[in-house]
Amino acid sequence: MTQSSTGYAAWLPSERWSDEARIESWRPLFEQIEAHMILRHEGAGASALRELIGGIQTLSGISPRLTVKSGTPLLIFGDAQVSQKAPSDLQEIELAEEAYALQIDLENSIPYALIRGGSDVGLLHGVFAFLRLLGTQQSRPDKLHEIEAPHHPIRMIDQWDNMDGSVERGYSGNSIFYRDNRILLESQRIADYARLLASVGINAISINNVNVHAAETKLITADLLPDVKRLSDLFSSYGIKLFLSINYAAPIELRELDTADPLDADVQQWWRDKAQEIYAAIPDFGGFVVKADSENRPGPFTYGRDHADGANLLADALAPFGGLVFWRCFVYDCHQDWRDRSTDRARAAYDHFKPLDGKFRDNVILQIKNGPMDFQVREPISPLFGAMPLTNQVMEFQIAQEYTGQQRDVCFLVPQWKTYLDFDTHLTGEGTTVKKIAAGQIHPFAQSGVAAVSNIGDDDNWTGHHLAQANLYGFGRLAWNPELSAESIAAQWSALTFGLLNPAALFVEKLLMESWSVYESYAAPLSVGWMVQPHYHYAVDIDGYEYSKWGTYHFADRDGVGIDRTIATGTGYTGQYAAENRDVYDSLENCPDEVLLFFHHVPYTHILKSGKTLIQHIYDSRFEGVARIERWIEQWKSLASEVDPSRFEHILRRLEGQLDNAKQWRDVVSTYFYRKSGIADEHGRTIYG
Ligand code: GCU
Repeated sequence: MTQSSTGYAAWLPSERWSDEARIESWRPLFEQIEAHMILRHEGAGASALRELIGGIQTLSGISPRLTVKSGTPLLIFGDAQVSQKAPSDLQEIELAEEAYALQIDLENSIPYALIRGGSDVGLLHGVFAFLRLLGTQQSRPDKLHEIEAPHHPIRMIDQWDNMDGSVERGYSGNSIFYRDNRILLESQRIADYARLLASVGINAISINNVNVHAAETKLITADLLPDVKRLSDLFSSYGIKLFLSINYAAPIELRELDTADPLDADVQQWWRDKAQEIYAAIPDFGGFVVKADSENRPGPFTYGRDHADGANLLADALAPFGGLVFWRCFVYDCHQDWRDRSTDRARAAYDHFKPLDGKFRDNVILQIKNGPMDFQVREPISPLFGAMPLTNQVMEFQIAQEYTGQQRDVCFLVPQWKTYLDFDTHLTGEGTTVKKIAAGQIHPFAQSGVAAVSNIGDDDNWTGHHLAQANLYGFGRLAWNPELSAESIAAQWSALTFGLLNPAALFVEKLLMESWSVYESYAAPLSVGWMVQPHYHYAVDIDGYEYSKWGTYHFADRDGVGIDRTIATGTGYTGQYAAENRDVYDSLENCPDEVLLFFHHVPYTHILKSGKTLIQHIYDSRFEGVARIERWIEQWKSLASEVDPSRFEHILRRLEGQLDNAKQWRDVVSTYFYRKSGIADEHGRTIYG
């Protein structure tokens, strides 16, 4: 099997073009390449050259003659004299460090094509943009002038990998980083992962789970730091900084102190010494990711301190070396009593963190999940994001489909992420969108951006479901440029993966674009969330979390369903938004249907904006979800001759599995609400009374 049919090559070049005319049109540019850079053996410049030459060889079979000269990062295609003859302004445009310019002008009196980088890393981004262009355009452009700089300064991936080789919320095999409590070194997989991430512009990675157990606590000790350094060097040669999740109670866990109190002088000294030791081993180490006082992890609350005390302890230790602390805001009471109606988990992050605005050091970045709960198929946006103008923030997404089908069901999340990035928080007036806040365009944050939980493992195709690769690709592309449309990202990924103009690629693009709404149509309705099997989070279990300690309730009774989070009669959560959004969500009349049950407890007979009653919507959308998957399967079957048999079969099996899952959701949800409400389906379909 080839690397493309196993899925291992993902969206990177893997096969020679079958179209000879396409190859010939590029030949004059491909045969000779002049590189200007300070060539270091393992730097990003070397990676850029390797990727470019390798990509060209794979796609065209042409092996470029390469000359390397010292100078600013620049690659010149074709006639080596272009650098002397080309218009001088080409060399003078200022580029930000990670930016690139891609220019082709074959109609010029001196035809030229070149890639420039603001640095070697910028050049690497330029090379990947060029390879993307080769894979997504049928004919060679004669003129092109593209200058791109990343929109978000931080574009981070969080691995939830454990050192025993498991992956928390991993749906694609085991960890590529660890096995049997050892770091896997010399792994081509890890190098190829770095290539995949760099190809979509990721610039930071945290390599272990936010839940740091005994083994991972030792990643910051002398025993393991040399291995961590090797990984750090590898990622750094692709322009990616390496971070570690740390255990807040490490001084205790490593048996060196008997407290982790952030105001204790010995604890402060311990972290200063630790930072010194880490940076002596890894001079370009990125810093720490911290999950503290969250889901039973240790944190500053134990000592009566707040999160600013906790985060600043680590920030002060890392500051002399330029290190950063990503401090997660996923802090809530996970021992709630379901009988207690006054506590609302959705309020927790805002209630804990908002009062601390201005108290965090400059090298602390709060990492805030996109929604106030936990990566459900649909949630309103976290009201905390943007609400702390004096505090650095990144928004955290989850590429791993924990609550959205676990990479067994297709759910392309780019359209969902765009609803968050495009959202107008109104926090400093109209136009205060999340993507602007995350880019540092609203408040002059020292640091900001986006982070996401990875979805890869050691499965041949990285992501379990072949089509789940599109989410990893899409996150990187959106992090680089949130203005890209979901359609264009789906189209690019499909073309790069299945071949340009392949009918299967065109169908996959369409399927991806429908998939979030299809998933939503059979899972928990109108953002009420949860209704999944406790702990596993895949299959339907309506009351699975209803009487639990996790603060995740839907409150369905014989009259209606949903959570009253209004100011007048509910938990008051709506009051955490800026007035413009608060008023919309607070009003039963104005609240958008798709988030209705998140904000209101609504009778089954309530008329939605669609004109349907709530109960009829629940029935109709469950049936529609199943019907749409049946159509996908039919259409996919008609494409058998367009895709290699292995990928064809794999996708068919997964779609059939999704159909079974959707049927189970349909029947359980419909039956449950029929039994609660006693209201029959207007269309008389089979519901199990
Ligand atoms: C979810 C997920 C956990 C994870 C947690 C987190 O609750 O189910 O596995 O540890 O999020 O983000 O920390």
